[in-house]
Amino acid sequence: MYLGLDLGTSGLRGIVVSEKGDVIAEAEAGVDTSTPHPGWSEQDPSDWIEACQKVVAQLRELNGAAFSAVRGIGLSGHMHGATLLDRDGKVLRPCILWNDMRSAKEAAELDGLPSMRSITGNIVFPGFTAPKLEWVRGHEPDVFAKTCKVLLPKDYLRFWLTGSYVGDLSDSAGTAWLDVGKREWSDTALDLSHMRRDQMPELVEGSAAGGELRPKILQQWGLTGPIIVAGGAGDNAAAACGIGSISEGNGFLSLGTSGVLLVAKESYAPAPETAVHCFCHAVPDRWIQMGVILSATNSLNWLSRNLGQPVSALASALPDKVNGPSQITFLPYLSGERTPHNDSAIRGAFLGLDIASEPANLTQSVMEGVSFAMRDCLEALKSTGTKPESLLVVGGGARSRFWLETLATVLNTPLALPKGSEFGAAIGAARLAACAVQGANPKDIMLSPEVAERVEPRAELSNAYEAEFQRYRQYYDALAPIAAR
Ligand code: XUL
Repeated sequence: MYLGLDLGTSGLRGIVVSEKGDVIAEAEAGVDTSTPHPGWSEQDPSDWIEACQKVVAQLRELNGAAFSAVRGIGLSGHMHGATLLDRDGKVLRPCILWNDMRSAKEAAELDGLPSMRSITGNIVFPGFTAPKLEWVRGHEPDVFAKTCKVLLPKDYLRFWLTGSYVGDLSDSAGTAWLDVGKREWSDTALDLSHMRRDQMPELVEGSAAGGELRPKILQQWGLTGPIIVAGGAGDNAAAACGIGSISEGNGFLSLGTSGVLLVAKESYAPAPETAVHCFCHAVPDRWIQMGVILSATNSLNWLSRNLGQPVSALASALPDKVNGPSQITFLPYLSGERTPHNDSAIRGAFLGLDIASEPANLTQSVMEGVSFAMRDCLEALKSTGTKPESLLVVGGGARSRFWLETLATVLNTPLALPKGSEFGAAIGAARLAACAVQGANPKDIMLSPEVAERVEPRAELSNAYEAEFQRYRQYYDALAPIAAR
């Protein structure tokens, strides 16, 4: 058995997976995010440990025999968060998360330095780790001076599990301190952002061993050692392992809180000028390219909060079949945008509201706006020469038939729905644990799920949606200069 632990933004999910890859037990515990100022987003790392203990307690209760047969643990987590530790390994301040926008100015400054993009293969986005540390240096100099280690969220969890400071390459690629092509820390990038190599954890591949469970936790959890904790992965690379995207051109589209269009690459293919992310994959000699939008299902959550109706009610007010684009255009830039704009100043908008507009029209336009944003990601990926083969769709948004049909039509690509229900980062993490324990070839473990169904584009509506997509783009072009204060 293997234990996959995925530290997501809203909670920690754990699954016990058999040697054959079947999910035997699953459990989840929530984690709160605090917003002490508008645009800030922080979590208390001790809450991750508490959530982990709760999840393990639930898993043991659900199936004690399976849990006690666990031989390896894999970790996945939300990327880019800065967990700062002092020389005794004590947490110095709350973790600053991926969706925290306070360091936009520092990010732009770092991004403007010659060689940052060429070393790291990416724009230095405001959500990345390096600008967060620059912000701390400017605003909390005492904390900065005491910082002996910077760990990504799942690597802090590993530190608690194993006692070692270890990170994996896929997650570390989102710090802006890694030479993503060479797969090692870059002294130049570290130096440019006033950091040192000794403040970084040791690096391993995601599918390699990254430590062993501490005796105290072994005993507490009723396990017999040694239990290997694999390098693991950032959530997107872990999800790619979970869905079998490890060969060239193999990809998926995730309609989660954020939206991701990910394609696996067998060579390093940076294209920062397109705002496409290029990170190491969680398996050796592979990389991933991703278009990332910041508010996918989160746009619908926002609408649901403001209309006072649950998301499920909003979605079920729409027909199953798409009849053509809405008269309203929604720009889903509620927290700014990464791909393709790298614009932290832009914000969301409804355009074309009419006296007759109703909640259902708003829901439709939100689903369309997010689909247009994913189309922008697809075009950005294509401009780098990458063409996704066929796209598997995962994430909460895939529950809406209307949304899927809209998306397929806007992308002009058939979408495949995987069979079963477990494709997330947690299963990817468990698969990485299996590789680390067995020394297996990742190709033999990271298999793709069967396709349950394909959602085809509605060819007869594609011109109408194409025209709306062009309008959507023009709205951004017109609004961006006004929004940039
Ligand atoms: C990727 C990114 C998000 C987070 C949160 O660059 O910021 O996908 O990992 O899930």
